[in-house]
Amino acid sequence: MEKLKEQAGIHAAGYVQNGMVVGLGTGSTAYYFVQELGRRVQEEGLEIVGVTTSHRTADQARGLGIPLKSIDEVDQVDVTVDGADEVDPDLNGIKGGGGALLMEKVVALPTKEYIWVVDESKLVNCLGAFPLPVEVVQYGAQQVFRRFERAGYKPSFRMDGDRYFKTDMQNYIIDLQLDEIPDPLALAQELDLMVGVVEHGLFNQMVQRVIVAGQDGIKELNAE
Ligand code: A5P
Repeated sequence: MEKLKEQAGIHAAGYVQNGMVVGLGTGSTAYYFVQELGRRVQEEGLEIVGVTTSHRTADQARGLGIPLKSIDEVDQVDVTVDGADEVDPDLNGIKGGGGALLMEKVVALPTKEYIWVVDESKLVNCLGAFPLPVEVVQYGAQQVFRRFERAGYKPSFRMDGDRYFKTDMQNYIIDLQLDEIPDPLALAQELDLMVGVVEHGLFNQMVQRVIVAGQDGIKELNAE
């Protein structure tokens, strides 16, 4: 599995050219993409500016000598490469398993070419087996939790030992065990309207290209 993630990450780095502003995703697959960019910066003199999607990725990129800017210092991002937890045939996806969904979505939006890198186990017919992360403000988080309970969404607070897990933006995450999400667009709309919800892990029809590494090699899925 690790080898497949590495193959996908290295393949995606092929989309990065000199002079680009590059969104650097978070997670164990995007990690390999960032490593490869770091190698090209050091060994080939690749000149890019990175915009990171988490403190973790920022630390990795700094360690590799990739110059960084904040998302507010750039007008747009040429290409962003990130991982995903599940991807359906319409290229809707769940992200946020690593807790970075808010920054990931903020960087994805002004991106011209948004790419995911996954191993083939992430492809599903219907989203929802993977718990859907919802980032909520700390104030009133129990209220939001109870609303999810009443809706039958089987919520659980993400924990970090015996404390609530806090995102890089200092919010909590409530994971929803939905099992099946028959209409991801409708659910996204519902969550977008909920007071107390900062962002959710449904990334519907945002991605242009999904690079899938499998036992038979690399394939690319492209949005219509
Ligand atoms: C981070 O919050 C996530 O959105 C990751 O991009 C996603 O969880 C995929 O991570 P892996 O590549 O580690 O599976």
